[in-house]
Amino acid sequence: MKELDQRADLGLTQRPRRLRRTSAIRDLVAETGLSLRQLVQGHFVLEGAGRTEAIDALPGIVRRSVDGLLRAVETDLENGLRAVMLFALPAHKDAEASAARDELGLAPRAIAALRKAFGSDLVIFADVCMCPSTDHGHCGLLDADGEVRNDASVALLAEIALAQARAGADFVCPSDMMDGRVGAIRAALDAAGHTGTAILAYTAKYASAFYGPFRHAAGSAPAHGDRRGYQMDPRNRREALRELALDVQEGADLVMVKPALAYLDVIADCAAASPVPVAAYNVSGEYAMVQLAAREGLGEERALALEILHSIRRAGADLIVGYHGSRAAAEGWLPR
Ligand code: PBG
Repeated sequence: MKELDQRADLGLTQRPRRLRRTSAIRDLVAETGLSLRQLVQGHFVLEGAGRTEAIDALPGIVRRSVDGLLRAVETDLENGLRAVMLFALPAHKDAEASAARDELGLAPRAIAALRKAFGSDLVIFADVCMCPSTDHGHCGLLDADGEVRNDASVALLAEIALAQARAGADFVCPSDMMDGRVGAIRAALDAAGHTGTAILAYTAKYASAFYGPFRHAAGSAPAHGDRRGYQMDPRNRREALRELALDVQEGADLVMVKPALAYLDVIADCAAASPVPVAAYNVSGEYAMVQLAAREGLGEERALALEILHSIRRAGADLIVGYHGSRAAAEGWLPR
């Protein structure tokens, strides 16, 4: 008994709590940092002018026309948030996504307006996909049986990317998951002289239920079937490394894992293996969960969001695309 008491007094040489004693010490030894410079804010863009629409499924996020987008981005820039991911929602939808391929279409117009207003102060990422502008809601062209055709879709995706590059996007970001699209887009950009336009590839994009609010916002839910024939199976981990190797070989400048929160293992794998920076997409469903939890009084928005964002960084992501950025910047949650 006496021996035990002595151990309690003297024996505990290892006390990890010493490094948790004060806030200043904790900050000094924190293994992970997060700054506004690492966040990319997602925006939904509408045709027309003077339009702002709330999105029920995404509290705090709106769809807006280009004039409103310019004002929102100006505020973000003043607050230290410098990167946007654009999702254009053209009014016209058809089987071939013509609106997305239009050089004078909504995405190129939005990109050009942002570039004109903010020059190189703003980093513009543009989502390259067909689903917001197809009447069937799939991310590629369909054959007579309703199957998504890979190679024909890739050619159209390259056209979409080229229109965005011409308008001044810094990064074109294919989110369709067709095989070979990164290489095809790189070749199309280079052939047109856009050697400086970079590609952020949605590399490990899973067929996830967490995209629900986005599809609601974009009106892009598939009219029939689902996306499992092209997006990755959530049960797979190793396969992400195969996609990573292919995208890097095809010329991706940044690679991305999506969603983020349920795929931290995949982020860690990609961070360990990737020769290029790794982004993670903290998707609409993940964002909405935080908003709804906060609304129900189950947690505080800022604390929940920051814990999630730091977890994504801890897993190894260099940058994070998502929806918390504007709020974080406006309310000073994070350093610049
Ligand atoms: C388009 C696209 C989607 C998202 C980004 N680009 C939807 C989908 O694949 O169904 C989801 C983003 C989010 O949920 O925040 N293919």
